[in-house]
Amino acid sequence: MNASGAATRFATALASPPWPVFAPSAGERLILADGRGVRLRPVQPGDAAAEQAFVTALSPASRRRRFHGAMKQLPESVLRAMTAIDFRHHVALVAEAGCVDGAARLVADARYVRDDDGEAEFAVAVADDWQGLGLGRALLQRLGRHARLSGVATLRGSVLADNGPMLALMRSLGARLRDDPADATIVQATFSL
Ligand SMILES: CC(C)(COP(=O)(O)OP(=O)(O)OC[C@H]1O[C@@H](n2cnc3c(N)ncnc32)[C@H](O)[C@@H]1OP(=O)(O)O)[C@@H](O)C(=O)NCCC(=O)NCCS
Repeated sequence: MNASGAATRFATALASPPWPVFAPSAGERLILADGRGVRLRPVQPGDAAAEQAFVTALSPASRRRRFHGAMKQLPESVLRAMTAIDFRHHVALVAEAGCVDGAARLVADARYVRDDDGEAEFAVAVADDWQGLGLGRALLQRLGRHARLSGVATLRGSVLADNGPMLALMRSLGARLRDDPADATIVQATFSL
């Protein structure tokens, strides 16, 4: 597909359903391919324990694919950074599927961090038994829409070259993929918004 075709496809994907630049309290109910429901919402300051539980529950393979390393749980400083979201430079969405022991049960997380040049780096993870149901696609569409409405020109992500599902999702959303010249284990996925 040529670049303009890819851009059109991503823009079309982003357009439905509309979700304007959101306030931190906004949320959206989403029914997945297997009939289970989740609520997509922005990350809130009180999500630290739920984020830690989400990351700890990922399989080692999914954690490696998300963090590019063998991290078992998030260090306190990373956890703080991942839940202190300003929704300008750092934008983060989660999918919540009910509660466990009174705390939100998170089953997916997608975020981007913006630099001063109008570019942003994104990452996404979906709990293993919630994968393949459209959740990764739904979150990235909303994240991309938010980025575009916020004036981000380029959204890019570093994907492990052996991460077939993520590369398939990137192709399906119309990303430009190219090998990282500095690291043979990485493919750079780029969306021009
Ligand atoms: C990669 C990941 C985010 C995809 O999320 P997901 O919710 O499972 O993906 P979706 O159900 O939205 O799938 C969307 C598309 O991705 C592709 N895809 C997803 N899983 C796939 C798989 N196992 N094999 C092949 N293609 C796959 C398909 O193109 C699919 O489109 P389709 O539904 O029309 O077939 C998820 O598998 C994940 O969290 N993996 C571990 C962490 C990770 O790799 N993060 C990326 C870091 S950059």
